[in-house]
This record gives sequence, structure tokens and C-alpha cells, in this order.
Amino acid sequence: KRLVVLVSGSGTNLQALLDEIAATGTEAYGAEIVAVGADREGIEGLARAERAGIPTFVCKVKDHETRDAWDAALAEAVDAHAPDLVVSAGFMKIVGKEFLARFGGRFVNTHPALLPSFPGAHGVRDALAYGARVTGCTVHFVDDGVDTGPIIAQGVVEVRDEDDESALHERIKEVERRLLVEVVGRLARNGYRIEGRKVVIQ
Ligand code: GRF
Repeated sequence: KRLVVLVSGSGTNLQALLDEIAATGTEAYGAEIVAVGADREGIEGLARAERAGIPTFVCKVKDHETRDAWDAALAEAVDAHAPDLVVSAGFMKIVGKEFLARFGGRFVNTHPALLPSFPGAHGVRDALAYGARVTGCTVHFVDDGVDTGPIIAQGVVEVRDEDDESALHERIKEVERRLLVEVVGRLARNGYRIEGRKVVIQ
């Protein structure tokens, strides 16, 4: 299966996928990363792809007249690599109807909180501020909401009294990277069905 991964930052989730595929081999893992896309230049996530010899593209909102034009351009850029599955690994933009028309049902996101709790761009900070005793991460299909699509898998992480946002986020990311690698591999190898809010992996 062909994966396109979208990033906006350090790309450690992308790196976890790259390392797993390198270690187990494309055949055994069931997927290969054919391109990495971003919404901005100069991020470590793109450097990780370049070091792995993987084609990259950047699609910036400010390069387009309207948000919808950006959304359509992003869909085109992703489509050019004919992906079977698109993975948002720390991609910090909300896609629109054109992107979802083309990739809905095969567009997966990872979020650093236990959805439906704490959706949005500050899930770790919000869980900490709320005083949650456990939080975690969620891998889900992207729908037309923000972090509201059908949940595929979740991992639980305890919150410690001494945690600040970055310490807690680092601990969440350790679980998140393993969860994403495991879920993407299973989706690619086994195939899946989405039945309402349920995801059935064969
Ligand atoms: C991940 O925790 C992701 O869930 C969140 O931002 C982080 C990205 O980390 N949206 P990285 O870029 O994969 O290191």
C-alpha cells in the first residue's frame, strides 16, 4: 500500500513509520511512504523525509487566493502520488470538502488526547489544565469535523503531578508513535470497513 504522510513540525511520528518500515521491510509491513507533504517549509519533518530519500511537497495557505483553493491544491499534490492511505502525523491544518471528497475514508489522523475529550490544536495543554488524571492519544479517520471522525485505536497515558505540557506531550508521543505504526500497518495489511462510528479491521 502507498502512504502519503502530512506533517507540520518535528515529524517524530513520521520517523517512527520510516524506522518501522526500514526494520520490517515494505512487504512485511504492508506499506511504503511514497511522499511527505507539509503546510510550511523548513521543518524537521521534511528534513526527515529528505534524509530517507522520500519526495516532499509543501502547500502553504498563503500561496493561495482562498482557503478552498489551498484545500484543492493540497488534494492535487497528495493525489499526484496515488496514495492508498493518507496519514496526518502532526499536520496542523483542517482540510476542506475537496480533500475529504477525494480522501475521506482513507485519511487517518493521530491526536494527543483521548477523543472526544480535548479536541483541537492544544489537546495536551487542555487535558493538563483540566486536571485530567489520565489522557493519551487517539488514531482516527478524519471526517468533516475537528478530531471527530471514527476512532480506530486509543492509548492511555497517566498524568503526573509534576507534568508540564512538554513533559506530558513527550510521554504521550512515546505511546502515540507505537500506536500509529501498529494501526497504519494493520489498516494497510488487513483492509478495513467503516460502519458508522465503528472501524472494523479485517
Ligand atoms: C503529535 O503528538 C500529534 O498528535 C500532534 O502533534 C504532535 C506531532 O508530533 N498533533 P511530531 O511532529 O510527529 O513529532
